[in-house]
Amino acid sequence: MKNKICPSMMCADIFDLKNIVSVFEKTNIDYLHIDIMDGCFVPNYTLGTDYCRMLKEHTAIPLDIHLMINEPENKIDWFPIDEKDYVSVHCESTNHLQRALSRIKEKGAKAMVALNPATPLFAVENVLDDIDAVLIMTVNPGYAGQKLIPSTLKKIKSAREFLDSRGYKDIEIEVDGNVSFENAVKMKNAGANMFVVGSSGIFKKEFSLEEGIERFRMAVKS
Ligand code: DX5
Ligand code: ZN
Repeated sequence: MKNKICPSMMCADIFDLKNIVSVFEKTNIDYLHIDIMDGCFVPNYTLGTDYCRMLKEHTAIPLDIHLMINEPENKIDWFPIDEKDYVSVHCESTNHLQRALSRIKEKGAKAMVALNPATPLFAVENVLDDIDAVLIMTVNPGYAGQKLIPSTLKKIKSAREFLDSRGYKDIEIEVDGNVSFENAVKMKNAGANMFVVGSSGIFKKEFSLEEGIERFRMAVKS
């Protein structure tokens, strides 16, 4: 499965967005990861619908929209999404997970279920036919700059084994939270192939964005 790099746009300097996106285009970045928070499901606000729309107008890089909002099934239409994009919904955020996933599919996009660190894997068991990927949160969602929760590494491995044993080898595994160069290697070895890279990965003061991307690619060998 191809390794995909998904920079976390909440970690990108909004005043330098034009240059940042152009670096992503030149370096063939796979997806732009956009964190949408509603102050209820998670205790923070970040990016929103206009931000997604603006990115869509300025770049052809597909979006990876991470919805950390309650009742996502009623809000999917608010977002500008098409067949190239991923949209993830947290199973903890809705009583109607299957409905939320089928709304995403109706719009032609790829659907992903996100799991908080404490949520057991079997929460995805009955929606395997409705998803293209599982997002394993490796920190509790809400903030950048947190430390990896070590038990999530085992969870990635169990998720890969679980998906393969059920005959869902094509379902991808995304990881989000403290995806540093070092942690990314462990995550990849456990079975992840989509990496949300933020403040602990490519967005660092010590090196340029280009260098960060290069170093990340070397680490996960993609
Ligand atoms: C939350 C976010 C964060 C963050 C990732 O969903 O996606 O996990 O931006 O970057 P780090 O953890 O490296 O700051
Ligand atoms: Zn995220």
